[in-house]
Amino acid sequence: MTTAIDVLLLFIERAPHTLALESAALKSVDHVLEVAVGGGHLAAQVLPLISKGWYDGVDLSPEMLERAQQRLARTSYRNYRLLQGDARALPLKTASYNVLFSTYMLELVPLTEIPRICAEFARVVKAGGRCVVLTYAGGFDSLWQWAYKHWPGIFGVRKGAELTPLLQQAGFKIETRSMVKCRGLLSQLLVAVRTGST
Ligand SMILES: C[S@@+](CC[C@H](N)C(=O)[O-])C[C@H]1O[C@@H](n2cnc3c(N)ncnc32)[C@H](O)[C@@H]1O
Repeated sequence: MTTAIDVLLLFIERAPHTLALESAALKSVDHVLEVAVGGGHLAAQVLPLISKGWYDGVDLSPEMLERAQQRLARTSYRNYRLLQGDARALPLKTASYNVLFSTYMLELVPLTEIPRICAEFARVVKAGGRCVVLTYAGGFDSLWQWAYKHWPGIFGVRKGAELTPLLQQAGFKIETRSMVKCRGLLSQLLVAVRTGST
């Protein structure tokens, strides 16, 4: 079922999601992980691009996973898994993915917990693999604060420059950091490559 929040998120997130996808330069054989799948909007865009690969999506919330499952079941793709799990301790094997997406999730997590999440991202991404992170960076500030008060599980607190060193400390090299403005919403798009040889 499509809800008002789905429509709102689609309206403001579609263009940043598309840019995040383009930055990932997916190959058809890639194994992709999305941490915090939400309603599955990005997953539905990823699946057509990885016909010979695999998609795993993790989210803390069973309700969001159910929504994502309903959305993906309407596609013709079956090369995916949706799992309940916490970004701070991913229920996944080490060095398994070519690309990891995390979009509009780190806003919801206290800054003190982000190093642990970045370490998990670094653990599950293969050396040379990409990590693509989108976060809210401004715009609609009063409206956003109002939305955060009412839906703290969907609208979080702005985090920006502090994410770059945390990803670097975890073992990523920042490839690009850019700002994306869409319908008044400003997002930060970070693309990072996993260093090392594992
Ligand atoms: C604002 S939604 C974003 C969903 C989707 N990535 C998008 O771009 O539309 C945030 C999602 O993060 C999930 N989430 C929050 N904290 C999490 C955590 N620690 N581990 C996994 N998922 C989490 C929530 O359940 C929610 O589905």
